[in-house]
Amino acid sequence: MPRSPLIAPSVLAADFACLGAEVDAVLAAGADAIHFDVMDNHYVPNLSVGPPVLRALRAHGVTAPIEAHLMAKPVDRLLEDFIDAGATCVTIHPEATEHLHRSLCLIRERGVQAGVALNPGTPIAAVERVLHLVDVVLVMSVNPGFGGQAFIPESLDAVRTARARLDASPDGAAARLEVDGGIHAGNIGAARAAGADMFVAGTAIFGAPDYADAIAKLRAALG
Ligand code: DX5
Ligand code: ZN
Repeated sequence: MPRSPLIAPSVLAADFACLGAEVDAVLAAGADAIHFDVMDNHYVPNLSVGPPVLRALRAHGVTAPIEAHLMAKPVDRLLEDFIDAGATCVTIHPEATEHLHRSLCLIRERGVQAGVALNPGTPIAAVERVLHLVDVVLVMSVNPGFGGQAFIPESLDAVRTARARLDASPDGAAARLEVDGGIHAGNIGAARAAGADMFVAGTAIFGAPDYADAIAKLRAALG
């Protein structure tokens, strides 16, 4: 069953020239966790930030949970670096590793949470056999690689299907069901109704003039 909702701003939409202050500001504005998007110009056609930037946020004093969403291939060596840098959850794409089970074991052996991300074209079946190793199932509601894209409406079906599978599985029932991409106050309620309980928002928060107001509007729309 969905748990109480969490809101995780994606730093991809923040002002990188003052990232520490940006992260402080969204946490002070009521964010529950930070979503740290990692793009490698290989698995996705864009390049973002690496472990030193996450480490710098920890050195700056950020203590909130940070989910490293790794859109990078191959992922096994990199994921260790993000855990060393201070990630509390590492989320990977099944297409970005030759051996999904091994990669998830590598994450969990380090004592942090493990997530799997499903692209708009990837069925939940891709992760069904590893649900016992997973703390977060992330349904991508855009194709990975860029912030500021439009929410793909069929993603609601993917969330509903994932929710049904998780609820039907003793291994998956405790996992978070996260939705990522194009989330705003006009669609977050539908994503919640479909069964999601964690919501990434980049543009809808960092693109707003008042972060507290933006997060309050998202929470209000969650009901
Ligand atoms: C897309 C990323 C998302 C995205 C969220 O590849 O994984 O986290 O940047 O940003 P918005 O909310 O702007 O779609
Ligand atoms: Zn993301």
